[in-house]
Amino acid sequence: MQYKKPMMIGGALAVMAMMPPVWASEPIQPITPVKSINLGMVELGKKLFFDPRLSKSGFISCNSCHNLSMGGTDNLKTSIGHNWNQGPISAPTVLNSSLNLAQFWDGRAKDLKEQAGGPIANPGEMGFTHELAVEVLQSIPGYVAEYTLVFGTEKIGIDGVTEAIAEFEKTLVTPNSRFDQWLLGDENAINGTELAGYKLFKASGCVACHNGSAVGGSTYQKMGVVAPYQTTSKIEGRIGVTGKDADRFKFKVPTLRNVELTYPYFHDGGAATLKEAVDIMGRIQLGKQFTDEEKVKIVAFLKTLTGDQPSFNLPILPPSSDKTPQPKPFS
Ligand code: HEC
Ligand code: HEC
Repeated sequence: MQYKKPMMIGGALAVMAMMPPVWASEPIQPITPVKSINLGMVELGKKLFFDPRLSKSGFISCNSCHNLSMGGTDNLKTSIGHNWNQGPISAPTVLNSSLNLAQFWDGRAKDLKEQAGGPIANPGEMGFTHELAVEVLQSIPGYVAEYTLVFGTEKIGIDGVTEAIAEFEKTLVTPNSRFDQWLLGDENAINGTELAGYKLFKASGCVACHNGSAVGGSTYQKMGVVAPYQTTSKIEGRIGVTGKDADRFKFKVPTLRNVELTYPYFHDGGAATLKEAVDIMGRIQLGKQFTDEEKVKIVAFLKTLTGDQPSFNLPILPPSSDKTPQPKPFS
């Protein structure tokens, strides 16, 4: 990393070593590419993420609702799962989810491994059971071989399955956004409107909740601090986990990384556009009515948070065998 700037001082070229990076004094930090990762496990987890045979119908994979071609989400108000069931809540992106303090809007899963077991057995999502999902995988020789290489046993378990998926998800970080380039010292990485938007984002108080390298994901906050959020959704947030009345309508602050791609917004998908989301946030979280021009600037800033999207060869899944249980799409 380079923070050295050559400077002309009294005609002599001096090098100012180790200038502090811009982000040292900013409430948002750049995303760092993932370090120590088990590559074999990542490859297995990648296949499992894309494999619809983890669902009862044999039709729905993690990627169905967290489409990596669309910012790690489904761009629907609320997700559609098994039997065309429309779920009660909007799918958050899986991009940078490793940076969250916990998983789900209400934080009910402590980490990615614990989270990954949820959707497989959720009747409205993949509609399966862990036992049946494991039985399907165990019947596929390609998976048994790969699992043995990674975990040292031929006996596939849901623990290994969720661990591998979680390891893959850790690679889904998005460094190198234009905003991060700016944080790292490239003054030309964002334009004047975008910079004005960032200044407004800071000065208005958005950074009280949206901060850190994920620009969110680090606290639970009330939705509707100054004025109540208008919604028909019955979802009540963090109170479902803690049982405390003070946690009613508290949600994990979502990451704003790649937010340009992850519409519609909020837990109920209630805001169709970024402009609408910014307008609502200003009014109900901060008591501020932004002008149209201010909203345009903040939205311009938010779009600089789009980073490098995951890029890899599409995994080719090992074929089923004669022993593989048949999918049940309609039940
Ligand atoms: C039918 C759609 C659907 C499928 C299939 C699905 N998810 Fe999700 N996912 C969701 C929804 C909806 C939520 C939010 C639920 C909540 O917060 O209560 C979610 C939440 C998550 C989160 C939490 C992100 C955050 O910021 O809190 C992760 C991680 C995740 N899913 C990964 C997976 C993995 C891995 C799979 C496959 C094993 C999977 N999902 C399958 C819809 C789906
Ligand atoms: C008091 C904490 C707080 C403040 C201040 C705050 N937010 Fe939020 N923000 C949240 C929470 C919590 C959510 C999720 C709410 C929900 O879905 O119910 C959210 C959601 C969002 C979303 C939607 C993200 C998504 O993926 O659904 C955007 C965009 C956003 N905020 C932008 C802003 C902007 C811009 C400001 C400043 C004008 C701001 N926020 C101020 C807590 C806050």
